[in-house]
Amino acid sequence: MTSQMTSQMNLPRPPAIELIDLHPPAADMRQLVRDGMARQPRQLPAWFLYDAEGSKLFDRICEQPEYGLTRTEINLLECKALEIAAALGDGVIVEFGAGSARKVGPLLKALQPPAYVALDISADHLQQAITKLQQAHPTVAMLGICCDHSQLETLPDHPLLRGQRRLGFFPGSSLGNFNRQDAEELLRRFRRILAGGPLLLGLDHPKPASVLEAAYDDAAGVSAAFARNLLHRLNQDLQADFDPQRFRYQAHWQPEASRVEMALISRCPQQVSIADEHWSFDDGEALVTEYSVKYSPVMAIELAAEAGWRCARRWHDPDDSLSLHLLEAAD
Ligand code: AVI
Repeated sequence: MTSQMTSQMNLPRPPAIELIDLHPPAADMRQLVRDGMARQPRQLPAWFLYDAEGSKLFDRICEQPEYGLTRTEINLLECKALEIAAALGDGVIVEFGAGSARKVGPLLKALQPPAYVALDISADHLQQAITKLQQAHPTVAMLGICCDHSQLETLPDHPLLRGQRRLGFFPGSSLGNFNRQDAEELLRRFRRILAGGPLLLGLDHPKPASVLEAAYDDAAGVSAAFARNLLHRLNQDLQADFDPQRFRYQAHWQPEASRVEMALISRCPQQVSIADEHWSFDDGEALVTEYSVKYSPVMAIELAAEAGWRCARRWHDPDDSLSLHLLEAAD
């Protein structure tokens, strides 16, 4: 036996990577499309944007010079990881909407948790993300759960979670992609899912219109391609017949609602069919692809309180352009 073989035999086996697929079936997606097309203005759930191609396009948005949110939040996490880890305490990290799982690295390093559970709607993207992440953090067991976390009631009963305190992580201002009522409901849901554990919530703050409109309609056209990909996705997965070029993209800051409203605007009167159902669009009619609500710290504290959380601490970047709130169950 060679010395290399002996040392390989002595190495601890890397914890397994596992993926549980709970993606909503096509029939449920069709019903959501029907509901969304009946709304005024028309709007589909934001998670429809994240098929494999949409997830890649979103990663590219995060690299655009106009979209500073991801870079700023990662810097903040890197700078404050030890403090945040001490405030969170021990447990398994549960990240909601993990995407490429690029933000959790500093926390994994500082906390050295036994396991990391990543929830995301895009199965292939999730698998790749946790596979790559485990190379950097070989002692942390990784579990991916492909699901719509806004509908999840509980986490699956899994050995990695049994008897462990749960540390929720919801960065990237993804809560902003839900309207006020749904955001409150989501925070309540996370409180149940985390079963007494804390939630580290990343929220972007309101900014001047010019900054936000550029961030959500970058010069390279990646944000527009991301929105238009929704139509490609509906064509591919739900047998729709959208012509994406017959829609133009727009992103507007609405200060009264403290949100950027992103939409595809029909360039002409047109009919589309989605799985044998027909819908007409007027010239100029909008299909809202997403809202991105921006929360000041005061707005965040109010929303958290309505959902049964209290803000125990807040970390922010030097410009105070975004916050990481540590929420604890209020009773
Ligand atoms: C994922 N989410 C927080 C992004 C945001 O900033 O609202 C989605 C996005 N859409 C276009 N650009 C970014």
